[in-house]
Amino acid sequence: MEKGKVDLTIEKLEFDFGENAENFNAALFLDCEIPDFKQRAKSFSTQIKKLVDNGFIFRKVHGPITKFTMVEDPQTSQIRPLMMLGSNNYLDLAIEPHVKNKTIEAIEKFGTGCGGPALLNGYTSIHKELEQKIAKSKGMEDALIFSSGYSANVGWPSALLTDDDFLVYDIQSHGSLFDGIKLGNFKSVPFLHNDSKSLEGRLKKIRIDHPKSNIIVCVEGVYSMDGDIAPLDEFKLVCEKYNCLLCIDDAHGTGVMGHNGHGTQEHFNLQGKVEICMGTFSKSLTATGGYIASSEDIINYLRIYANSYIYSATVAPSIIATALGALEFIEKNPHRVKALHDNTQYFVKKLNSLGFDVKSESAIIPIFIRKDVSIRDLVSRFHQEGIFINGIEYPSVPRAKQRLRLSMMATFTKAELDEGLKVFEKIGKEFDLI
Ligand SMILES: Cc1ncc(COP(=O)(O)O)c(C=O)c1O
Repeated sequence: MEKGKVDLTIEKLEFDFGENAENFNAALFLDCEIPDFKQRAKSFSTQIKKLVDNGFIFRKVHGPITKFTMVEDPQTSQIRPLMMLGSNNYLDLAIEPHVKNKTIEAIEKFGTGCGGPALLNGYTSIHKELEQKIAKSKGMEDALIFSSGYSANVGWPSALLTDDDFLVYDIQSHGSLFDGIKLGNFKSVPFLHNDSKSLEGRLKKIRIDHPKSNIIVCVEGVYSMDGDIAPLDEFKLVCEKYNCLLCIDDAHGTGVMGHNGHGTQEHFNLQGKVEICMGTFSKSLTATGGYIASSEDIINYLRIYANSYIYSATVAPSIIATALGALEFIEKNPHRVKALHDNTQYFVKKLNSLGFDVKSESAIIPIFIRKDVSIRDLVSRFHQEGIFINGIEYPSVPRAKQRLRLSMMATFTKAELDEGLKVFEKIGKEFDLI
């Protein structure tokens, strides 16, 4: 198979991946059929400006991302607080005094940036402390920190897998994993979303021809577009049966899933049983940076073989301190995680009673919108009515599954949620959604 190409041939006739199979290129978002680069860029630029002017993307934020965030209206330039239902800052930790103080203290101690990768001069005592804390929370021996979750996913597959090895992954995986696949020399095979039978079918076939190949199965704990969770217990059993390692991308599960917010492994009681845990500091932990937690041997191997780790400067110590402060806060305040679960369930229940057909197993609530409704107009109406919400379109999701993606925050009171629900009712009726 050609390097970096996704192999859809195994069981091709059995499964229809639909548009998901081509969902790797954000540029599909706009019309990009024009062959001449300058003309194409001009066309892109015009289209992008329109989307920015309508407030669909790149809305300007003028304060911390918190439950009511100061956002500029792109048409009137007015800055006002919007109810934030469009951020991954699920636990509302960006304004938490412990997290802020920890960050400020780190600037006093370490200054600002490191000016280099961890391998050379960038590995501070606070990087080590965060690695150990992450490893412990995932039940793993060790961890290493990448400059982002994206670069973790781009880095680990090609470092760990070569030639006759296989990466078998859920077809709804994040774009960063698809880019990791493009960089690799290994073979990659998708399976149907959250379907352990489809996974087993793939592994059975691969094992017949490649009994000795290394196989890593990669799934997400919580899927960023649907908010549904992987049946990790079933996947673990299948992986054991076919002698594969399991990797979980828990970007949206960390700080959200499990009583202590340790993630989807905790939710399934599989702490320490998933061999490779990938995650990011950019969501619940309110910082930036990504990580892999695993055995000491795998981590040491990645420290040398993951190009995106070696050839990229590390995360600034102050940002590392932010993530550390956030983890400390969650450890001492598990009720914040519970409040997130409660708020999500409350909102889902109320939306259902208004007539919206929604569900969620995490803090992400997708509201699917019929094809004939403009998702861009909807986002704009919510903005006018004081709510920040994201619209998700093709190619991030299949065309028939455009949606509003609502991300809950733990700190909303029920009264605040009820006020928000009035807007959902008003706009729902206006657009004939309920
Ligand atoms: C599932 C998943 N994996 C990885 C990433 C990349 O993380 P980061 O934002 O830290 O680059 C994201 C972020 O959108 C994600 O949703």
